[in-house]
Amino acid sequence: MSDTPISRTRPSESDQPLWLFGYGSLIYKTGFAFKACRPASIKGWTRRFWQGSHDHRGTLESPGRVATLVPQEGAVCHGMAYLIAPDVLAGLDVREKNGYLRVMTDLYFDDGSQDEALVYMATEGNEAWLGEASALEIAQQISTAAGPSGPNRDYLLMLADSIRDMGHDDDHVEAIEQALLALEANVDRS
Ligand code: SIN
Repeated sequence: MSDTPISRTRPSESDQPLWLFGYGSLIYKTGFAFKACRPASIKGWTRRFWQGSHDHRGTLESPGRVATLVPQEGAVCHGMAYLIAPDVLAGLDVREKNGYLRVMTDLYFDDGSQDEALVYMATEGNEAWLGEASALEIAQQISTAAGPSGPNRDYLLMLADSIRDMGHDDDHVEAIEQALLALEANVDRS
């Protein structure tokens, strides 16, 4: 964990615009005001469907699974960076309330320039944490879960499409997507 570039929490009283890095639903569903939007990545973190969702893509009885970040040496997580006004964070805090914390980390734009960004991250042990499981187990859970923001499968498929649209691969997301599509193909045939 010591090599993981979690750094500073954001100075709380600044009124300057800041970069927000999105790696999950924040890539494909904004719903907030931003001044600029650029493909970017963060280092030392990998995207994992290890966070439970009982407020967006599942319920308390049948939680869905959504993306969070876990530390991994040498990993690069591709996503989208948005330049936002600080007051946008109040709405995002509500949207990301199910276990996510604000963390500041170094940000690498696809054009080679750098800055720092705020990231919403759900760390191990939070109240909605589900943890590691196989791609098939995750796909099975996703296939049956739905919540106020819609079916959990849509979250997965929209995220997988968005990562491809940005020109990147994510083996973890693709493995779950393939497992889900295979499950759905079997259901359709029966
Ligand atoms: C993010 O997209 O950056 C956070 C996780 C999510 O809202 O799916």
